[in-house]
Amino acid sequence: MFELRARDGLARIGVLKTKHGRISTPTILPVVNPHFMPISPNEMLRMGAQVIITNSYIIYKDEKLKEKALKNGLHSLISFNKPIMTDSGSFQMYIYGSIDVDAIEIVKFQNEIKSDIGTILDVFLEGKYEEMKKGVIETIERARESVKYKGDMLLATTVQGGTYKDLRRRCSRELAKIDADLYPIGGVVPLMEKQRYADLVEIIITSKRELPPSKPVHLFGAGHPMVFPIAALLGCDLFDSSAYIKYAKDDRLIFPDGTAHLNELEELPCSCEICSKYDINELKEMEREERIKKIAYHNLWQIFNEIKRVRQAIREGTIWELAERKAIAHPSLIEAMAILRKYKKWLEKWENISRKRAFMYTGSNSIHRPIVYRLNKRIMERYTTFFKNSVVINEARKPYSRNKRLTELEANCIVKSPMGAIPLELDEIYPVAQSLFPKFIDSDTRNYARKIFKKFYESLKGNENEKEYDIRKIISVADYQFGKGAGQALFKGKIEIIKSKKTGKIRNVISNGEHVVSMRAHDGFFTLKMKGAIRLHSHFSFPKMRIVVKDDAIPFIRDGKNLFAKFVIDCDDGLRPYDEAIIVSKNDELIAVGQTIMNRDEMLSFNRGMAVKIREALKTK
Ligand code: GUN
Ligand code: ZN
Repeated sequence: MFELRARDGLARIGVLKTKHGRISTPTILPVVNPHFMPISPNEMLRMGAQVIITNSYIIYKDEKLKEKALKNGLHSLISFNKPIMTDSGSFQMYIYGSIDVDAIEIVKFQNEIKSDIGTILDVFLEGKYEEMKKGVIETIERARESVKYKGDMLLATTVQGGTYKDLRRRCSRELAKIDADLYPIGGVVPLMEKQRYADLVEIIITSKRELPPSKPVHLFGAGHPMVFPIAALLGCDLFDSSAYIKYAKDDRLIFPDGTAHLNELEELPCSCEICSKYDINELKEMEREERIKKIAYHNLWQIFNEIKRVRQAIREGTIWELAERKAIAHPSLIEAMAILRKYKKWLEKWENISRKRAFMYTGSNSIHRPIVYRLNKRIMERYTTFFKNSVVINEARKPYSRNKRLTELEANCIVKSPMGAIPLELDEIYPVAQSLFPKFIDSDTRNYARKIFKKFYESLKGNENEKEYDIRKIISVADYQFGKGAGQALFKGKIEIIKSKKTGKIRNVISNGEHVVSMRAHDGFFTLKMKGAIRLHSHFSFPKMRIVVKDDAIPFIRDGKNLFAKFVIDCDDGLRPYDEAIIVSKNDELIAVGQTIMNRDEMLSFNRGMAVKIREALKTK
């Protein structure tokens, strides 16, 4: 039901199929109250809404609405012919302490009124550990029972557990075993109201780590654009907003970085249809009802503007930059960004090999991105020196190797960069060459880079394996990209390096007459040719670099078709999105070479969508 279309780490562009059409994620669902619709759902479509959310409990409790909904369906009741998600009454339970509806009855009801996405009656409460634990156990039980009644409706099973990590973990782990279609993270409204974003981030990560990556995650009650980038960055696909109307009732206007009361403003810093049509004084003097409608419209417009910006950032690979920039909107968001540092190792698993756009420094958080963690880790673990002696070079113009004097030095050249220690041979890989730092960087980054540099430099062991620069470069890039020893395995005997006449950059490498790899100009990494794959396949033992496929898929792959996730049996846990990978049969027989779209967890979780883009298949004898 959910398919991956593009990604930037955990953040993804996905498509969710419902009975009333497809939803492109990340997106936000405006909350529609069936009793009060100052903006019609059809008008919301024009602003960018693809799906709305309404409350089945409100309908259930109102005899007239209930009858109509049961007779003609929810879509007719709301006059909306696109996807509708329904909530269950959990939020009312949280507000009023209790509600009188049965957990299974409300799921059946959502199905009967033909909701596209229904929600279980999860137990949303604020309380001490023991109380919360009971709520989690009850939520899991209700989810297990509810799936039996979902029919052709998609079912959302909400993760609860407050700020208790073990409860969140337990709840997510148990819900992941259930055949649900969507996993909301619930119980976070009180945190967002108090702007406790650091706690919010801990909860998202704790839940996300246990939930199946193939299912969309909804952040329940997240309706302010301030949280969209960081939540999307952590893999949240859906948001919902009643904030647009709630705030409007208080004369509060939503902006990308915060909220402003109408009375605080002397002009309207926005150019939505409302703000470009009305003067601020006209707005202030309007009848209350009319004003609420106008402000609600503006608020929704701002919200959709931000969600579009998030989607664009994911497509172009700049979600980290967007989240870091957004973080300075509130000190508590700065705290939340800092929390991510603790989870670098996990975040790195989802991180693309490279991006279309350059790595942009935004401040002291940037050095803690998972791509920098990977860079330093791989250099530390995979780089091998060529000379006995080493010299330190201060950061210079990039790429460093353009300086011929450096490439001709008979010593290991280690560049002191804002990202740590960069061996001269690795100066063209992503994100080294494709990064932008200001001349003067903050002292946190400087100290961090200095620490990394020192650790690497002190660990350096000299070698006596002198080679000319280009040979050193291809060996070092291969080791960095595929693993230690890959360079020796790939480049044997007579080596010919073919360079671009225009740029002078390495394009192809021929070893003993076989074209083994090409070097990509945009990220400085190799694409693996079949001749290269054969060498790495025999050099590295199973499961390194491998993706094991079902026998049924083999003829299709040999025919040049791409590999879909449902045909993957297993996969090397070291493979990352956009890595070069070797496709093998159950007996480790080499079938093809290609580029991954997913990591292992995703390949094993998704039943739909492409896992590997096949480049070349081995011709059978
Ligand atoms: N709306 C806001 N928060 C929640 C929640 O935790 N559960 C449900 N079902 N709806 C919500
Ligand atoms: Zn506006």
